[in-house]
Amino acid sequence: MTNKALNTDPRLRVLIPEERLQARIAELGAQIRADYGDRPVTCIGVLKGSFIFMADLVRAIGGDVRCEFLGVSSYQGGTKSTGVVKITKDLSGPIEEQDCIIIEDIIDTGLTMHYLLELLSVRKPRSLQVCTLLDKPSNREIEMAADYVGFSIPDEFVIGYGLDLSELYRNLPHIAVYTP
Ligand code: IMP
Ligand code: MG
Repeated sequence: MTNKALNTDPRLRVLIPEERLQARIAELGAQIRADYGDRPVTCIGVLKGSFIFMADLVRAIGGDVRCEFLGVSSYQGGTKSTGVVKITKDLSGPIEEQDCIIIEDIIDTGLTMHYLLELLSVRKPRSLQVCTLLDKPSNREIEMAADYVGFSIPDEFVIGYGLDLSELYRNLPHIAVYTP
């Protein structure tokens, strides 16, 4: 990390350092591979927030992995969920009879994941699970439990490692709390 402005910004406080992220992702990958045996796993990354997590996780899973992406936009530039989910990019092909895992950066109200599970389950995957790097369970507006969770965090707005505030800070190697 060479950007001094990002490292010294007083609005940012490191919550999960890079080493802890990487160690936990190695564990998640090993757990997923053990659970799926030698079956191919279709990882469906939810753009844009999951792109860095997805890149590290698929390498940690190892073996046969298909990479798909789904473009979703739920925030219109602020720090509060609107509950309105817009699909900005669909999968590149059918997922029928595939073992699928939705890869998300963070589950907050649960509204986005609820919508995605409904959207994808009608496409008849063999199985459909959810892996999220971060979980804010105290802020749910709809019941939602991920199958794989990296870290459970308090209800604070976080950025970095793919997560943004108005499209910035995605390139931080760690997760930081943003306090305006
Ligand atoms: P939900 O629909 O409220 O569960 O929110 C899901 C989406 O909101 C995530 O995929 C993120 O893109 C975004 N989001 C929720 N909390 C945060 C946060 O603390 N920082 C950055 N993005 C967030
Ligand atoms: Mg997201």
